Amino acid sequence: LGQKVHVYGSVDSTQTIAHALVASGAQEGTIVLAEEQTAGRGRMGRAWHSPSGKGIWMSIVLTPRVPVYFMPQLTLLSAVALCRSIQKVCQVEIGIKWPNDLLIKGKKVSGILLESSGEDERLKYVIAGIGISVNLTTEDYPEALRSIATSLAIESGQVISRELLVQTFLLEFEDLYALYMDKGFAPIRLLWEALSVTLKRPIRTSTPSGFIEGIADSLDDSGALTVITPSGEKIKIYSGDIELK
Ligand code: BTN
Repeated sequence: LGQKVHVYGSVDSTQTIAHALVASGAQEGTIVLAEEQTAGRGRMGRAWHSPSGKGIWMSIVLTPRVPVYFMPQLTLLSAVALCRSIQKVCQVEIGIKWPNDLLIKGKKVSGILLESSGEDERLKYVIAGIGISVNLTTEDYPEALRSIATSLAIESGQVISRELLVQTFLLEFEDLYALYMDKGFAPIRLLWEALSVTLKRPIRTSTPSGFIEGIADSLDDSGALTVITPSGEKIKIYSGDIELK
């Protein structure tokens, strides 16, 4: 990873740039970094607050030769890499909320957005978008985000080196990606479970057929979350967001 690194000042979204680079022949491991995003995007059509110089706003081009339905596994792998690299660089207690939000004391500090392009049921390429709120202060957040979002600097009480964190993350990601290609999802799943703040906790989620409430029980081989409802029914959640209760 990172043989080719493209660094920008202000962009709309590093995701958009990475897609365009792939269209013009960029290879696996190409990285796009920006100081600022004016239209950073999050999961489920949300915006991602990306002020200048305060965070790591990064997209990575991947070309894993796996079926499209392996996407959730790559998402979980990215979350493990991110969580481990933050633990190495900052002294903070951080955990993963399914599928891939990183939380410190219940507030979100980092998020992952995977966008893919498939062909014949195989992934052609994936752009892994990584957002880490590194050195934002409380004032850098709009009022509406202050109760739900935080930064590594706020939580650790120190300014964190973005360079060190990017390097540490890329090494961690590379190791896990190689492990995944070699041994499949099983070892990644164990690592994810150990870092999760979701499992064995009461959760709530909304689906097209209504709300589901229950205890998050386990992760299955595809990366879906199994929830046990009060009536004992087991329901699998494949995508979307959950609320920890
Ligand atoms: C989420 O938690 O909803 C995912 C947030 C992903 C944000 C990153 S920042 C770099 C990349 N470019 C974007 O526009 N989004 C991702």
